[in-house]
Amino acid sequence: MTQLLYIETFGCQMNERDSEIMAQLLGEQAYLQTDQPELADVVVVNTCSIRGKAAHKAYSCFGRYKKLKEKKPDLILAVTGCVAQQDGAALLERMPYIDIVMGPQAIYTLPSLVAAARRDKMPQVVTDLSAEFVIPPFLPSLAEGPAHKRFITIMQGCDNFCTYCVVPYTRGREISRNFADIMGEATHLVSHGVKEITLIGQNVNSYGKKGAHRQSQGFPELLRAVAGIDGLERLRFTTSHPKDLSEELMRCFVEIPSLCPHFHLPVQSGSNSILSRMNRKYTIEAYLDKVARLREYRPDIALTTDIIVGFPGETDDDFAATMQTLETVRYHGSYSFKYSDRPNAKAADFPDKIVEEVKTERLARLQARQEEIALALKQAEIGRIVEVMVEGASKAPANQWSGRTGSNQIVNFSCASQLVPGDLLMVEIEGACQNSLRGKMI
Ligand code: SAH
Ligand code: SF4
Ligand code: F3S
Repeated sequence: MTQLLYIETFGCQMNERDSEIMAQLLGEQAYLQTDQPELADVVVVNTCSIRGKAAHKAYSCFGRYKKLKEKKPDLILAVTGCVAQQDGAALLERMPYIDIVMGPQAIYTLPSLVAAARRDKMPQVVTDLSAEFVIPPFLPSLAEGPAHKRFITIMQGCDNFCTYCVVPYTRGREISRNFADIMGEATHLVSHGVKEITLIGQNVNSYGKKGAHRQSQGFPELLRAVAGIDGLERLRFTTSHPKDLSEELMRCFVEIPSLCPHFHLPVQSGSNSILSRMNRKYTIEAYLDKVARLREYRPDIALTTDIIVGFPGETDDDFAATMQTLETVRYHGSYSFKYSDRPNAKAADFPDKIVEEVKTERLARLQARQEEIALALKQAEIGRIVEVMVEGASKAPANQWSGRTGSNQIVNFSCASQLVPGDLLMVEIEGACQNSLRGKMI
């Protein structure tokens, strides 16, 4: 009998892809996805723990599902992702109505855990994190998710131990996925009509280099191989650590035509003393030098970044150095956050915490300036003709469509003919607003 599955996903692309995998695995057991939790037989909450706020969002939604469960005792409630990994069985002490608690490495066992929870009427907890874990050679069905663009997980975990970050504790050691398995998944997707692939992991540019999961191909070879699949139009990747950005990877932006001219390169801070205490392993000079070289190879590349304000001990001068970095690089976009203490992360024990008001004021100042820069970069596109991949129709008015440039900017444009997501066409840019460009098809 068909059953219904509801998944709520928080956090990064790794979690988004993990949610798709869980939906696909339960899909093979005749589960259909619903967008109404009250109808579901299984509810999965895939959580994120990157900042205190993200974790709180997860905890507050468990409360909502408690009420559902009171009305419908057969409902199976599974908590997955980084909060599940971090809290493990302790979650059950606070919330005994949860049926399954499982970490990111356990997602492939979801169907058997659901069966066990039903059969034994006992909570199931799987939060092992093994450095020997192997990402399965899973060939996804195309039942769930957008058909024209997909994520492929190429690695799990992280070995970098930035002092603010919880990821090495929630996702474990860095594990590269088998090269042939990635190629198998990519080939399968493209043969089913997928036009754009994004290779994802916490630190993709160190792919293949580490320990037991060493691959004979590094990240540039992987990019070349995936780009070589006939029918793939666009290739992207995220996220990269600046210290692992090699000259060979930069050259890929010239040599691989389908590799999109967008690079997400988290800087975190513009101050060397903060970077050092963050354990980022680069100086701001080395970072800026890499940006300059990247732009020599590919002058039209769009750069985006992540920034933390209010790291412990951040002085006015440190923050001014971060503001200066915005001026020097001129990012197309930035995700910026107030520093937040995380369990196990070293910086939680650092002295000189910055008070909330200072963090709030710095973040507002940084975001305001970044918005001006991003808008100016968008305005500079006016008059250009760019290639756009169609994402879908706008809700209103009629004949309005939305798509993305290779540099990953949203373009809304008019076109009288019927288009399909994944179509590529040329658009003349006529206007720019904060979050998107406007144009007409030519
Ligand atoms: N692996 C990726 C980032 C993962 S987390 C990378 O290294 O680039 C995404 C972003 O969240 C980080 O880049 C950082 O800017 C932010 N972040 C991580 N931990 C944080 C914390 N404790 N407080 C505030 N922001 C944090
Ligand atoms: Fe966290 Fe640093 Fe690893 Fe990124 S590189 S996931 S910020 S520890
Ligand atoms: Fe969040 Fe875990 Fe991703 S903490 S950002 S879901 S790796």
